[in-house]
Amino acid sequence: MKLATIAGSLRKASINRGLLEACQDVAPGGITFEPLPIGELPHYDEDLATQGDPEAVARFKAAIAAADGLLIATPEYNYSVPGVLKNALDWASRPAYRSVFAGKKTGMLGASYSVVGTARAQAHLKGIMLGMAAPVFPYPEVLVGAAKEKFDTDGNLTDPSTREHLAGFVAAFATWVGTP
Ligand code: FNR
Repeated sequence: MKLATIAGSLRKASINRGLLEACQDVAPGGITFEPLPIGELPHYDEDLATQGDPEAVARFKAAIAAADGLLIATPEYNYSVPGVLKNALDWASRPAYRSVFAGKKTGMLGASYSVVGTARAQAHLKGIMLGMAAPVFPYPEVLVGAAKEKFDTDGNLTDPSTREHLAGFVAAFATWVGTP
């Protein structure tokens, strides 16, 4: 099973990228992960899009199309998803309802230093994905709050109980992706 992953942060020591890396560590055998960079995508411009996908966009879309499922880890920026993540999703969202997201089984995660654990960002992300006809994994959720105590300064997830929760999440997500 191939899972594409998107971290909604460009920060080198991103705790959200750390969350995705921890998913790889705790995943059951037989799953490969492909992290998709989003920092190289241009700002979405419909004029540009009508001339054909820029190379980085074409690569991004092809990788999503080739994956069995998609995992997105989002930070919370001002109660929503970061613009850089929304930009990437907007690029890959065309043609509407027939894009690479249509029918692509998607799981989401998020970590924040506050207690809300990206709940508000994930609520928005859920609506965005459903709006692109992507089925969203309902449960268990991964909302990691108070991240200062759970990640080291390089963004690595160190908290044993969060890692255990993540193991259950990835196993359940993979079963869901693998179920026709
Ligand atoms: C934040 N942060 C934040 N945290 C939160 O819980 N709720 C919020 O609304 C916001 N808003 C917000 C806006 C902006 C512009 C920034 C830069 C930050 C804090 C945020 O969760 C924190 O920076 C995380 O470390 C971001 O995740 P990464 O980059 O470590 O993955």
